[in-house]
Amino acid sequence: MKVEDLIRDDSTLGSPPVVVTQLRGVIARKNSSADDIAKVIMSDGPLSARLLKLANSAMFGFPGKIDDVGYAVTLIGTKQVYSLAMATAIIDQFQGVDTGPFHAEAFWEHSLAVACAGHALAKVGGHNDREGVFLTGILHDLGRLAMMVEATEPMIVALHRSRKSNEPLSRSEAAVFNFDHTQAAKMLLERWALPPAVVQPVVRHHRPGADQACCLLHLADALVHGLAIGHSGEICIPPLQESSWKQANIKTEALKHAAAETEITYGLLRRELHGKPAVAA
Ligand SMILES: [Fe+2]
Ligand SMILES: [Fe+2]
Repeated sequence: MKVEDLIRDDSTLGSPPVVVTQLRGVIARKNSSADDIAKVIMSDGPLSARLLKLANSAMFGFPGKIDDVGYAVTLIGTKQVYSLAMATAIIDQFQGVDTGPFHAEAFWEHSLAVACAGHALAKVGGHNDREGVFLTGILHDLGRLAMMVEATEPMIVALHRSRKSNEPLSRSEAAVFNFDHTQAAKMLLERWALPPAVVQPVVRHHRPGADQACCLLHLADALVHGLAIGHSGEICIPPLQESSWKQANIKTEALKHAAAETEITYGLLRRELHGKPAVAA
């Protein structure tokens, strides 16, 4: 199978949530204002409500209560609200898709936990765009979701192969499909016309190189595998690029702090966004 054949126009994940397309259009316009962004978000009532829950969660530590989307944009910043709105819209639209024999809820638990871990690591590593890292955490394994939904049978074969030979699932995906979930994500997110700053960390989360945002996402994924929150289909912790600790500016003591924060914020957000308390994997 070619990666281009995985997603068609009428596929479940063929188009991003409408609000994602609208926000992307507003952000791309040079003369767009904070008001324009707020208007797009407010046109979707449930999205606005969940975005405000997210923005008010202790995790982000924004000062005071944010009870209005316009105020959120002014206080937090356009780029930050854009990232959080995108993350919220994607969770809202795709957490209910039919993944057949795959455990969709555990998949989203993994994604949300990686988003929280990425945010916590970005904080201790002194990275400015924490909300951007949070968004890439939500998106990082979306290519695998596309493979589960659009190519269920070969994905089952890949899963069995990974279990039988005890190899990382990405390697089994590559053996069965000729591409893995990071290449599927590249095709999917570029099709959605998301910017390179969002697409690159997702594509490189298993081979991050020297880029700080890529390394943060790589470490967040490893941390969540270590904490055993949710399940992405992987049976082993994906291979770790040791130099990422230095690239992401994470020291051992800071890692302990980030791990503790991840467990707390994941528990809170899971309850706020999904209406359910956190459960062990
Ligand atoms: Fe992955
Ligand atoms: Fe993952």
